[in-house]
Amino acid sequence: EKGGYEHFMMKEIYEQPKSIADCLRGRLDAKSGRLVLGGLRDYMNKFQNAERIIITACGTSWHAGLVAEYLFEEFARVPVEVEYASEFRYRNPVIGEKDFVIAISQSGETADTLAAIELAKSKGATIFGVCNVVGSSIPRATHAGSYTHAGPEIGVASTKAFTAQISVLAMMALKLGYQRGTLPESRYIQLLHELEAIPGKVERALKSNEAIKYIAEEYKDVRNALYLGRGYNFPVALEGALKLKEISYIHAEGYPAAEMKHGPIALIDEEMPVFFIATKDSSYEKVVSNIQEVKARKGKVIAVVTEGDTQVKAIADHVIEIPETHEAFAPLVAVVPLQLLSYHIAVMRGCNVDQPRNLAKSVTVE
Ligand code: M6R
Repeated sequence: EKGGYEHFMMKEIYEQPKSIADCLRGRLDAKSGRLVLGGLRDYMNKFQNAERIIITACGTSWHAGLVAEYLFEEFARVPVEVEYASEFRYRNPVIGEKDFVIAISQSGETADTLAAIELAKSKGATIFGVCNVVGSSIPRATHAGSYTHAGPEIGVASTKAFTAQISVLAMMALKLGYQRGTLPESRYIQLLHELEAIPGKVERALKSNEAIKYIAEEYKDVRNALYLGRGYNFPVALEGALKLKEISYIHAEGYPAAEMKHGPIALIDEEMPVFFIATKDSSYEKVVSNIQEVKARKGKVIAVVTEGDTQVKAIADHVIEIPETHEAFAPLVAVVPLQLLSYHIAVMRGCNVDQPRNLAKSVTVE
């Protein structure tokens, strides 16, 4: 059942080229410019005319929501708010009929997310679900939705569900941008091609596994770690830190790289590993200076970089290369080495990777 892998988590990490392709299949065809999300059809009007998009979720699904915030704002120019379901449901939020709420959940059973949906629904908002488990409670509570089609995810640490969620949300953002006229046709088509190429790029990113094992060996005994990224890769930093925390029990924090100077920089010394997502994008040069700031304080830098990078390679202690892609889709590829890294560190520490202590696959209590 683990398909020859030692743990479900590893199997699920390796399934990603296929699970992302499954998620795109039948929905996206770049050559013909076709992009259809069945669940959206009856609600396209509401979606297109929404004055605001509110995304609500927990944990890793919330991180996918943060990526979506950047996607929707860039491509469709709609204001987006991303809310922890547990906070949203308890604070009498300002919400109404003009709001389009997207609830993201792998299991479809998360109690806080479900309660946030019921609250938003009672205020007249339209609720759209992005879920993985077919027929679960959240898809039944929403007005409409799109499944992620990632297949069963058994490991408690979410991996392939995350990349499938981002894939659905990316399609939604492209569709919305195109329909609203904020995304010109030529760019839209180009982005469809980019998205279609992602499964192949994830496949290539997985080839770094051996190199990542070597890095894991070197850092498996640290007590703390920092994860830094900017823009689309800021949520990837949060996700990388969450993966390390939950399966290896090492304290890790994710930050937008520029926030480092407002506090976390005080933590940096020769003992502190700092994982950067430093792919070639619009904030690359700024991330490079953040890396220099860490090196100046003798921190250890491990960076996820774009293939062929030379600048970061020259200053980092270790680099992990991933294929180049449009920055909006970089999280789909950049998260993969961080998933692998936490996996190997957790295995080397003798942790129960698939069922970490104190955690359940779906959190059905509030
Ligand atoms: O099933 P959901 O996507 O609603 O679950 C949300 C979180 O409980 C979940 O993502 C959790 O943070 C994972 N263990 C992260 O790997």
